[in-house]
Amino acid sequence: MDILRLQNVFKDYILKGETIQVLQGIDLTIQSGEFVALMGPSGSGKTTLLHIMGGVDEPTKGKVFLGDQELSGLSAGRLAQVRLHRLGFVFQAYNLLPALTVFDNCAYPLILQGRPGKERRERVEKMLARVGLSHRLKHHPEDLSGGEQQRVAVARALITRPLLVLADEPTAHLDAETGREIIDLLHRLNEEEGTTFLFATHDPALLQKTTRILRLRGGCLFED
Ligand SMILES: Nc1ncnc2c1ncn2[C@@H]1O[C@H](COP(=O)(O)OP(=O)(O)OP(=O)(O)O)[C@@H](O)[C@H]1O
Ligand SMILES: [Mg+2]
Repeated sequence: MDILRLQNVFKDYILKGETIQVLQGIDLTIQSGEFVALMGPSGSGKTTLLHIMGGVDEPTKGKVFLGDQELSGLSAGRLAQVRLHRLGFVFQAYNLLPALTVFDNCAYPLILQGRPGKERRERVEKMLARVGLSHRLKHHPEDLSGGEQQRVAVARALITRPLLVLADEPTAHLDAETGREIIDLLHRLNEEEGTTFLFATHDPALLQKTTRILRLRGGCLFED
């Protein structure tokens, strides 16, 4: 089953009157169950592409389908629903909510989904244990290291058991050991629950388990 499909996607940014052509005709299909790495030098457009895939940003031209749902026609409310129920997103800059504790940041998508308190508590405690943060539940993001915040962001993306997870350099701020543990977690979810992963990375350790490696260069995608 196609879980994500991009058709002739372009993205330009206009900055101080100058047009920057970041994506120049991306065609891509990701099937359910894939474990895909997206590589490319800094500034090549990995974050831009992930944002467009996840409905965080809109393409200048072209179409994005999540399953059979085309994103561009959706109202903001409907798009938020699609993202909430189908997608997990790990932002490069984490995007944790500073006013909420670690526990509540992770529970937030489940609150939006209307899950009961007992189920939320069990799932959040289990997921935060899996990323090694059981002892930090009541702390706020500002009290955590970059790597710890990154692990909260991963836990929050996985908490709804989404079909597709888009992750922007999810191990960039982790030491080798912790990075490997996070990769193992993602890979286990991929194998056991069939969760589809697409992650931007520069980390060779992440590549060992991938089913596909995509490379972004000059606004175009190439495949190994
Ligand atoms: N909101 C924006 N407005 C203008 N230009 C932008 C914007 N976002 C990104 N860009 C430009 O688009 C290009 C691609 O940026 P992007 O963040 O997607 O790259 P990246 O591959 O994720 O880089 P990195 O590996 O450093 O995270 C860069 O030249 C950047 O300056
Ligand atoms: Mg980036």
